[in-house]
Amino acid sequence: MGIEEVAEAIRHDQFPELEDSRYDTSRRLREVLNSPAVSGGEPIRRSFLPLAAAWIEKAEEDEVLDTLRSGWITTGPKTMRFEALCQEYLGSKHAIAVNSCTAALQLALAACDIGPGDEVITTPISWPATSNVVINQGAKPVFVDVEPDTLNLDASKIEAAITPRTKAILPVHMAGQPCDLDRIRGIARRHQLIVIEDAAHAIGAEYHGRRIGTISEATAFSFYPTKNITTIEGGLLTTDNDDLAERARLLGNQGISRDAWKRYAKDGSLHWQLLSSGFKMNMTDVQASLGLHQLPRLEEFNRIREEYVRMYNEAFSDLPAIQPLAQRSGIRHAHHLFIVLLQLDQLTIDRDQFMMALKAENIGTGTHFVSMHLQPFYRKEFGIQPQDFPVARQVSEQLVSLPLYPKMTVSDVQDVVQAVRKVVTAYSVKSKAARREVPETVAA
Ligand SMILES: Cc1ncc(COP(=O)(O)O)c(C=O)c1O
Repeated sequence: MGIEEVAEAIRHDQFPELEDSRYDTSRRLREVLNSPAVSGGEPIRRSFLPLAAAWIEKAEEDEVLDTLRSGWITTGPKTMRFEALCQEYLGSKHAIAVNSCTAALQLALAACDIGPGDEVITTPISWPATSNVVINQGAKPVFVDVEPDTLNLDASKIEAAITPRTKAILPVHMAGQPCDLDRIRGIARRHQLIVIEDAAHAIGAEYHGRRIGTISEATAFSFYPTKNITTIEGGLLTTDNDDLAERARLLGNQGISRDAWKRYAKDGSLHWQLLSSGFKMNMTDVQASLGLHQLPRLEEFNRIREEYVRMYNEAFSDLPAIQPLAQRSGIRHAHHLFIVLLQLDQLTIDRDQFMMALKAENIGTGTHFVSMHLQPFYRKEFGIQPQDFPVARQVSEQLVSLPLYPKMTVSDVQDVVQAVRKVVTAYSVKSKAARREVPETVAA
């Protein structure tokens, strides 16, 4: 038996009793394998497993090449085809492809005339884009705390934050799990507010049988490389409102009456008119080339994500230190992220040390998200204090995302499970082996 086979047998508990002194080497090997790599043990993997990775195949490569050789590389026929595909898949009346989800959110706010003096209620547990776009419109983001078990906006706290200046609610479907849209939309209706959904994580998700992207006034999706499908950078704005769609198309194209394809095509018109100030947010045909082959694979991608989440949930069910987010009934989850809340009272290390320990095992992790209200900008600009949003503050210290993407193999998932179990066991408050020499906390 070679050393690798012995290690494999020990990892899977298939080795005979090691008390016999003839097995000293094996006993030492078991110690090394069970020790966290961060304190000198053998890492679970030899190669690094990133937190996320896109799955690009030959069809995408060929389509990009075809576009590059076609003579038309910016917004044109392929973007139009991609929009039609999105429209058909999502079931929305309009689907506007843009260069990011940030752009889609910005356009939605601008098309709804949200500007100086207005307030938009949103969540502090998100990527900066969600609240940045509100500020970029000259309006004010007003945070409402999140639910402790889903990290979604806590609908029960929204009404207390509404003022005469409130114009919209901007919820985020965290990790791909739809928010409580019935409740949020009910509040919006009573107070005549617009709902703009940040569905960066939620393509393919459903709420009570309705696909996300067809429910509120506007919805924004992301096609960034880590997302459920990718166009490298890219985003999509959906709406059923004709006026909103027309205005969004205009504003996303410098306020110009016709886009470039329509101007330069043989049958295009000679002139255009500037009808408004605006932004430049168009998706290119090179980006759309990827989308044309990614979207048809989304259902399969999401099915694999769901299967891996099931494996994680099962594998961690006996670890009190690892608490995955809750899943509500009546929804279809897009499983963009697998976030766990570390139960820090069960561990001798903090969240950052946990991430460092997994990194030493060659497992990538992430934090989605440390609350915006703890960021220097919000503290300085709006005088927000950490204790103003107690749930967001607490989960910000507990949350960790583990690798989850369809390109991972089942064996990669098993490596993550083994690494988490090893680290949790080594640094459990109950473990006799709890180490004193814990890794240094990394600077954020
Ligand atoms: C919740 C959320 N909203 C918006 C965005 C912005 O997406 P994009 O990078 O496509 O602009 C992200 C990006 O990660 C996100 O996680």
